[in-house]
Amino acid sequence: MSVSIKSAREIELMREAGRLLAQVHEELGKAIEPGMSTLDVDRLGEKLIRDFGCVPNFLHYNGYPASICVSVNNEVVHGIPKKNRILKEGDIVSLDAGLIYKGYHSDAARTHAVGKISPEAQQLIDVTRQSFFEGIKMAREGAHLHDISAAIDAYVRQFGYGIVRDLVGHGIGTALHEDPQIPNFAQRRRGVRLQAGMTLAIEPMINAGGWEVNFLDDGWTVVTRDGSLSAHYENTVLVTDGEPEILTLL
Ligand code: MF3
Ligand code: CO
Repeated sequence: MSVSIKSAREIELMREAGRLLAQVHEELGKAIEPGMSTLDVDRLGEKLIRDFGCVPNFLHYNGYPASICVSVNNEVVHGIPKKNRILKEGDIVSLDAGLIYKGYHSDAARTHAVGKISPEAQQLIDVTRQSFFEGIKMAREGAHLHDISAAIDAYVRQFGYGIVRDLVGHGIGTALHEDPQIPNFAQRRRGVRLQAGMTLAIEPMINAGGWEVNFLDDGWTVVTRDGSLSAHYENTVLVTDGEPEILTLL
């Protein structure tokens, strides 16, 4: 395994890839409303990405048929957008999106409420988001990858939620998925030592119930095994010798 260290020039390009993706997410978040289909979300997301002169990196990735992953309620990640899948009041919807800017990838996810949602669903969204921020407190030069995973785990565990184990975060740069893999649960191994210039996509996927998931026959959609709700939050992050820089937040 080797983790790439980005040069100053590459970091500038990663920053721009991140900044543009943050704007895509802002616009998508504003657009989400009951009555919209998951395909409408994909169409809008792809248009926003292309209007920036960028390329959607998920489209055709290992055969994935869309630009945005749109995962509703018990769907964890990789939901395939569909014309007949209509968002309704009370749903939660996870949007995972990425783009390529001048050869550099960004990747980020948010879970949104559709209209008014239950307090339980809102708490799941909030805890998932906060677990990312707990994790990146550890993302600095000299720490180990494990420190990020353990911090996410320790925070989420207090709420009794299930941390998805079958999918992980990842390094990112000239490819969408680079080394290292970044689990969201504490591990025995300490993992690589973090260095300034590493760019990581940290992405807790958290279930209201158990951690177990199923993979549907469509080849993509991941769902909670117990049917409970699931939330996702992800940013592309630059490790520095001080505070980490979140590239996909404005
Ligand atoms: N955003 C996903 C990740 O973090 C990638 C989606 S793969 C796709 O790894 F094929 F579904 F696009
Ligand atoms: Co990712």
